[in-house]
Amino acid sequence: MTEPDYPHLHQQVAALLTGEPDALANSANFVALLFAGMTDINWVGIYVLRDDELVLGPFQGLPACVRIPIGHGVCGTSAESGQTLRVPNVHEFAGHISCDPASRSELVVPLRIAKQLVGVLDIDSPKLDRFSAADQVGIESLCDQFVTHLERQNRFI
Ligand code: SME
Repeated sequence: MTEPDYPHLHQQVAALLTGEPDALANSANFVALLFAGMTDINWVGIYVLRDDELVLGPFQGLPACVRIPIGHGVCGTSAESGQTLRVPNVHEFAGHISCDPASRSELVVPLRIAKQLVGVLDIDSPKLDRFSAADQVGIESLCDQFVTHLERQNRFI
C-alpha cells in the first residue's frame, strides 16, 4: 500500500483554507481532500460535538449514522478519551458502530480548539489494518493544521 504524499496534502490544505473564513466550507473541503488523496478508504468525515453528543458533519462516502453518544463506538470512545484510535479490525472493537458494512479498519482523531474537544475526524477503510503508525502521524498532523486554521476564526461548524 502506498502512503499518501503527506507534504503535498499539507500544501493542498493550506491552499484550500488560506483566506477562507467559513468553517463549514473549510471542513467540507478538508474531508474531500483526504477522501481524494488516500487509497483504500470508503468514508471520511467529521463528527461535531454538540450538547455532549457527536453529530454528523461534512463527509464523503455513504450516508452514515447521525448521532453518536460520547463513549459509544470508535468515535465516541476517542472523543471520551481524547486519544486517537487506530483500529486494525473494527469487528474486534467492542461497541463498534457499523455504518457501511464494507468498513474493516478505522482511524479516529479528536479535534480540539483551545484545548476543548470540538469533534472527531473519522476515516474508514474496507481493508483490514489499512492505517499504519505513519498514517496516524500524518493524519494527526493534517488535523492539527486544519484546526489551527479554524482557531484563527475562533469557532467551529
Ligand atoms: N464506525 C464509527 C461510526 C461512524 S461510521 O464509521 C461513519 C464508530 O464506531 O464510531
